[in-house]
Amino acid sequence: MAQSILFVCLGNICRSPSAEAVLRHLAQARGLDLTIDSAGTGDWHVGEPPYGPMQAAAAARGYDLSGLRARQVSPQDFHSFDLVIAMDASNMSNLRRIQPQGARAILRLFIDFAPHSGQSEVPDPYFTRDFDAALDLVEEAAQGLLAQLQ
Ligand code: 4NP
Repeated sequence: MAQSILFVCLGNICRSPSAEAVLRHLAQARGLDLTIDSAGTGDWHVGEPPYGPMQAAAAARGYDLSGLRARQVSPQDFHSFDLVIAMDASNMSNLRRIQPQGARAILRLFIDFAPHSGQSEVPDPYFTRDFDAALDLVEEAAQGLLAQLQ
């Protein structure tokens, strides 16, 4: 069973912090001891809390994102985490570029854990403005991921 999971998106202020909070919530409810973190491939928002509209949509479902702060993913993360999970194909190709050879992390696309969603990635709500659609996918994929971990 993977013990440590890093979610990665572009800015680390919408999708990946939401995934971090949702998986943490599900793991706690099941009494699972997982290390969960998130990061962005970009550095524009480093040190900032999650985006306000994303926080509001998540809070409406009971997820508190307010204590999270954005950071940029680094090659070292592939040594520190068992599983690195990208939100979209662009994140995936950026991650492949910095993935050190021989590092232990397995790299996966988050949507692969939601095979019945009909989607090929988690669309970026910073641009689509559909924060609830992103959360729907994040919740579905987080449940699928947890089912595979258990
Ligand atoms: P995220 O969304 O990757 O889900 O955190 C974004 C947030 C901000 C930007 C891009 C994506 N941005 O370009 O500032």
